Amino acid sequence: MNKYYVTTPIYYPSGKFHIGNSYPTVLADFLKKYKTLQGYDTFMLTGNDEHGQKIEDTAKGLNMSPKEYVDIQADNAKKLWAKMNINYDKFMRTTDEYHIKAVQQIFERFLKQGDIYKGEYEGWYCKPCESYFTETQLVDGKCPDCNRDVIKMKEEAYFFNMKKYADRLLKYYEEHPDFIVPEYRKQEMINNFIKPGLEDLCVTRTSFDWGIKVTSDPKHVIYVWLDALTNYITALGYYSSDDSLLKKYWPADVHLVGKDIARFHLIYWPIFLMALDLPLPKQIFVHNWFVMKDGKMSKSKGNVIYPEQLIDRYGLDATKYFLLREMPVSQDGMFSPESFVERYNYELCNDLSNLLNRTVSMVNKYFDGNVPEYVGTPNEVDSDLEKCSEDVINKFTKLVDEFEIANSIQEIWNFVSRTNKYIDETSPWILAKNEEDKEKLQSCMYHLVANLREIAILINPFMTETSENILRQLGFSNQITWDSLKEYKDLKNIKVIEKGEPMFMRLNAEEEIQYIKDLMKR
Ligand code: MSP
Repeated sequence: MNKYYVTTPIYYPSGKFHIGNSYPTVLADFLKKYKTLQGYDTFMLTGNDEHGQKIEDTAKGLNMSPKEYVDIQADNAKKLWAKMNINYDKFMRTTDEYHIKAVQQIFERFLKQGDIYKGEYEGWYCKPCESYFTETQLVDGKCPDCNRDVIKMKEEAYFFNMKKYADRLLKYYEEHPDFIVPEYRKQEMINNFIKPGLEDLCVTRTSFDWGIKVTSDPKHVIYVWLDALTNYITALGYYSSDDSLLKKYWPADVHLVGKDIARFHLIYWPIFLMALDLPLPKQIFVHNWFVMKDGKMSKSKGNVIYPEQLIDRYGLDATKYFLLREMPVSQDGMFSPESFVERYNYELCNDLSNLLNRTVSMVNKYFDGNVPEYVGTPNEVDSDLEKCSEDVINKFTKLVDEFEIANSIQEIWNFVSRTNKYIDETSPWILAKNEEDKEKLQSCMYHLVANLREIAILINPFMTETSENILRQLGFSNQITWDSLKEYKDLKNIKVIEKGEPMFMRLNAEEEIQYIKDLMKR
């Protein structure tokens, strides 16, 4: 059986998830469910990145130990993912003992191999915050966190010799044109970081405590990226007594990463793997960010939306639909109350929900609920529709494989619209008046049901509840697979429910836009 290993980044536990940072997990879950439906043996990894100065400081501010703080945050994350029906296979925590031991061994190996050397780290230091900043992170020459003066300081630190691997990495990029999606992210790495001369990466600190200690020099703590990135393999048992998952699932099929952490995944991570003599992930997909009309989401701006807020009022499927539908590959996705309500009313309610309702009610009216069997294509409209039903599967599959998720969903909705148009073109209410049009009417009802079944299968990985609802109302079991798409012409003995149940009810646009605006201010 083919395997599929998909990862989200592990999150810094920094409070509640908003719709923006929940996006990578929604996307990973969609890909996992999609591949599972296609018969792959899948593994999805998510989790939290629990070390570092910030966490130490936040916990102190809350009068907690860092461990108490990260435990609470891990529980909260798991609760949210459960509410969002996220089917991850493992929740990674970098404070787990097996991860700590593995990272320590990786570090010692790099030291022994000469990949890591001891040097001096120099940067701008803020004494009250006990933090280093680079020149570019400073705001008007002052600490970006507390706005106080900073001083130039040096401390002993270990560095990873990135330069040694720069040529090998470039060669790898060249020989694996599909490694980085979208392609322009690769160019950014080459032009901005590799060509100007790759700098060695500082991988330890002595200025804080909350991290993995270097075994051979314990006053040093392993600095976050070496600790964090390796989670993708330690989660599968790398450097543990049982590495069967690693054997089965590594290399990852895809790492999903936001644009802000592209450099770490596209440069440092492949180099770490080369140094460990492990194969590289097959693909790394860099996605953009969800932003608001007035820019980045932030509590201080009063423009944050949390997934629970949308789910509680509009349902999980509408929320996931919007997130996946609204994020283009080439630019940031935008959340606005207006577009959320508009998509809900037009695409979910008018287009999809009404199509189901009309179909169920016509099958009841004309055939007592019994879906006629396939009679062929008595006219051109029917054969054209069948062609669309084949095309949409191919287009959707191709686009998902290219991570063009918003466009792949658009293709499904084009098919929904095409099916709605088919009702107008065939006018079943007129066909029903003439006995000689009976076959055409049968064919019309059959095609509507077959299309809706197909739509239910296609949306299943991201709108699972809606998908099951459609299948139930049409009289199908929800035991579907991707292969069952092939049964388009073979549906027999199907009886729809007696009265259709609306899946999405039209919203009062003005009221709901205001409702969401108010949520954003909370
Ligand atoms: N801990 C690191 C990742 C280590 S992976 C080995 C980290 N954590 S994070 O919590 O800051 O971010 C997690 C992910 O959420 C990142 O991929 C980031 O790009 C993503 N997002 C954060 N805000 C986002 C939006 N507004 N929109 C989309 N994704 C966003 O980075």
